[in-house]
Amino acid sequence: MKILLLGQGGQVGWELQRALAPLGEVVGLDHDSTELHGDFSRPEALAATVAAVKPDLIVNAAAHTAVDKAESEPELARAINATAPGVLARCAAETGAWLVHYSTDYVFDGSGETARDEQAATGPLSVYGQTKLEGEELIRASGCRHLILRTSWVYAARGGNFARTMLRLAAERERLTVIDDQIGAPTGADLLADLTAQMVRTAMSTAAGSDLDLSGVYHAVASGETSWHGYASFVIERARQKGRELKVQTIDPVPTSAFPTPAQRPHNSRLSTHKLQQVFGLRLPPWQQGVERMLTEIL
Ligand SMILES: NC(=O)c1ccc[n+]([C@@H]2O[C@H](COP(=O)([O-])OP(=O)(O)OC[C@H]3O[C@@H](n4cnc5c(N)ncnc54)[C@H](OP(=O)(O)O)[C@@H]3O)[C@@H](O)[C@H]2O)c1
Repeated sequence: MKILLLGQGGQVGWELQRALAPLGEVVGLDHDSTELHGDFSRPEALAATVAAVKPDLIVNAAAHTAVDKAESEPELARAINATAPGVLARCAAETGAWLVHYSTDYVFDGSGETARDEQAATGPLSVYGQTKLEGEELIRASGCRHLILRTSWVYAARGGNFARTMLRLAAERERLTVIDDQIGAPTGADLLADLTAQMVRTAMSTAAGSDLDLSGVYHAVASGETSWHGYASFVIERARQKGRELKVQTIDPVPTSAFPTPAQRPHNSRLSTHKLQQVFGLRLPPWQQGVERMLTEIL
């Protein structure tokens, strides 16, 4: 199998390089790759890349993920999050390739307190959420065989992340204030990449042996839920248990309004993973398990 991986240097892309390797030959691209065009700000040029690689599977981990910046550059966000995935989907539909794409809890308005399933009404609050939703719609409209994984609060051991920021601040200050009215599930890029490999294998082998098509959107997050305050408290407590000396004495819970940002964030990011678990027979581990592992790597 030949796999074209876009956005290979991002949190999820990096883990996908590892997780997809046993499935076939992976051609990985970044936005500045020189031999083949991988820049999503010029979406139409991606068709030539697909034609050159002739992949059986396209995995798109590239996205405009700077949520606040997207508010002031909506056209660039739209090119990267919607038009480019649309071009990839059109190519996949023409060649019969499968397309894997990632989307977000930001396609929802975040009202209420229950977990949303894949059928729930969308209502993005930000340019990022709106353009990610448009990307989903273009993929569905193309008719290509696809898996769209909607996820939330993604972290990785590599590069900057929320836990690292909290640990730095906790070493410098006695008092921290952290948002406690946004609820979601921190989800590891490694978990997403492993889910992707498992899901692709099942979906592609099922399609080859029958008319059953597992194409569709799936919510893919770690199990359980917490607030950013709960997440920060967990990280700091575990770091202390592992011997890290921290100055912080108090972690004050505050509402989202205490930290105004250009983009509005959903308060309720709970996603039901029932469909993914049922269709693919996979289990989503508790969020603490992945965060604990990541801490072991970064501490
Ligand atoms: N991070 C989250 O909390 C979160 C939550 C829900 C859903 N998601 C979704 O999960 C997927 C993976 O996110 P992530 O956390 O891995 O994001 P990330 O670490 O920000 O990676 C994004 C990737 O996109 C690439 N990219 C940006 N502009 C590009 C362009 N013009 N052309 C080509 N590539 C470009 C980046 O490459 P360069 O750095 O080289 O530009 C980077 O490799 C995305 O679809 C995202 O929307 C993420």
